[in-house]
Amino acid sequence: MVKERKFLKGPRLRDVSTYEFPGLKKALSLGPDRIIQQISDARLLGRGGAGFPTGTKWDLALQQQGERKYMICNADEGEPGTFKDRYLLEERPLKVLEGLMIGAYAVGATQGYIYIRGEYSEPIKIVREILEDAREEGILGEDIFGSGFDFDIKLVRGAGAYVCGDETSLINSIEGKRGISRIKPPYPIQEGLYGHPTVVNNVESLACAAEIIKQGAGEFAALGTDNSRGTKLISLSGDINISEVFEIEFGSCTLSEIIENLGGGVRRGRDPKFVIPGGLSTAALLPEELDCTYTYEGIESAGSSLGSGAIIVVGESRDLVDILLKVSRFYMDETCGTCFPCREGNKQINYMLSQHRNKKFSGQEVELIEDIGEVIAAAARCGLGQTSLSLINSIFNKFPEELIEEVIHVD
Ligand SMILES: Cc1cc2nc3c(=O)[nH]c(=O)nc-3n(C[C@H](O)[C@H](O)[C@H](O)COP(=O)(O)O)c2cc1C
Ligand code: SF4
Repeated sequence: MVKERKFLKGPRLRDVSTYEFPGLKKALSLGPDRIIQQISDARLLGRGGAGFPTGTKWDLALQQQGERKYMICNADEGEPGTFKDRYLLEERPLKVLEGLMIGAYAVGATQGYIYIRGEYSEPIKIVREILEDAREEGILGEDIFGSGFDFDIKLVRGAGAYVCGDETSLINSIEGKRGISRIKPPYPIQEGLYGHPTVVNNVESLACAAEIIKQGAGEFAALGTDNSRGTKLISLSGDINISEVFEIEFGSCTLSEIIENLGGGVRRGRDPKFVIPGGLSTAALLPEELDCTYTYEGIESAGSSLGSGAIIVVGESRDLVDILLKVSRFYMDETCGTCFPCREGNKQINYMLSQHRNKKFSGQEVELIEDIGEVIAAAARCGLGQTSLSLINSIFNKFPEELIEEVIHVD
C-alpha cells in the first residue's frame, strides 16, 4: 500500500503574525556558505522540470560579482496537468516565502520577485496579503530579524503564456518586454534581470529549501534513492478516480501503485490506454511500462522523464488522433515564434494531424512528422521547442496499429 510522505504537505500556513520562520532564522545564523552546503548535501534537484541541482545554482550565483542580485520564484505553473505549486501557494505560502528569503540571503540578493500565473487569482490574493503582512511585521524590509539582511519582494502577475515559465522569457516579462526566450549563455545567474545576476527557482524547490534548512540536510537526504533524494509533489489527473496533489517519497512506489492506490484506479475500472508521467513534454508510457519506481532514474529507464511531476492518466476510450491534435494545438498556440522551425513546424504538424480525423497515417507522413520534430528541437532556443514532439512521437511509436497504415513489403 502506497502511503503519502509528509515533508512539504501539512496544515495550512498563511498567518504571518504567528509563524516563527524557523528555517529563515536558522539560515541567518548559518551564513551563506553553510546554507549552500546544506542544500548541496541534501542533493535537492530543482522541481521546475529540468532537475538542476539547487545547491550548485546558488553557489554559482554567490560567486557572481555585482552591485545587485535578484532572486525569483517561478510560480507560472503553465505545464498542462501541473497544479502542485498552486497547492503550496494556497496552503503553505509561508514556506515558499521563507525559501525565497533563504535563497536570497544565501546568494546575496536584495530584491525578490514572485511571478505567478495570471489565472491563479486565489494564490495571487493570498501571496499579496502575506507580502503586505510580512512588511508590516518587519519580516520583509531592512535589517530582517536584526541580521543586517535587507530584502523585499514584488509580486508580478503573468499574462497566461506558457513560454513565460521558461526562466529567460519570465525575466523578459518582468522587465516589461515580450515574453520570449533569450539566447544562453549568458545564463540568468550571470546576466539575468536588468542585466544583473539572477536566480530563478520553482515554488516547490524553494519550499523544499526552507524545510531542508529547518530540519537539516540529513532528514531530506535520508528519503528517496541515491539519485532522487527527498519527496516529490505530484499532480495526479486525467481518467482517474481521485485527482489530487500527493506527496511521494522517491523510490517508495511504482507509477502503477500511484495510480491504483493513491488515484483509486482508472475511471470505470479499466487499464489506462497510456500514462503521461511528467507533463505534456514527456513521452507516453504503456500500462506494461508502469512498474517503474517513481524516481528520476526509474522513469528514465522506462523511456520517459519525471518532468514537473504531472501524471496524466489516459483512459482506453480516448481517441488518439484527438489527443495528438490537442497536444499539437497547444504547442502551435504557445510557441513564442522566435525560432522559425518551432513557429512553422508546430503549425505544419497540427495541419497534417487535422487531415487524419478518420484515416490512418502513411509511414512517410509519420517520418515527416519525426523529421520536422528533429529540426524544431535542433534549432530551438528553449525547452518548449526541444520537447514539443516528445509526446506526439511516443504516441506514434507505441500505437502503430491504431495510427499507421500497414506497410506492405514487396520482395
Ligand atoms: C516552456 C517552458 C515552461 C516552463 N515553465 C515552468 C514553470 O511553469 N515553472 C517552473 O518552475 N519552471 C518552468 N520551466 C523551467 C524554468 O525555465 C526553470 O528551469 C525553473 O524555474 C528553475 O527552477 P528550479 O531549478 O527550481 O527547478 C519552464 C521551462 C520551459 C522551457
Ligand atoms: S523554441 Fe519555440 S518557444 Fe522556445 S524560443 Fe524558440 S520559438 Fe520560442
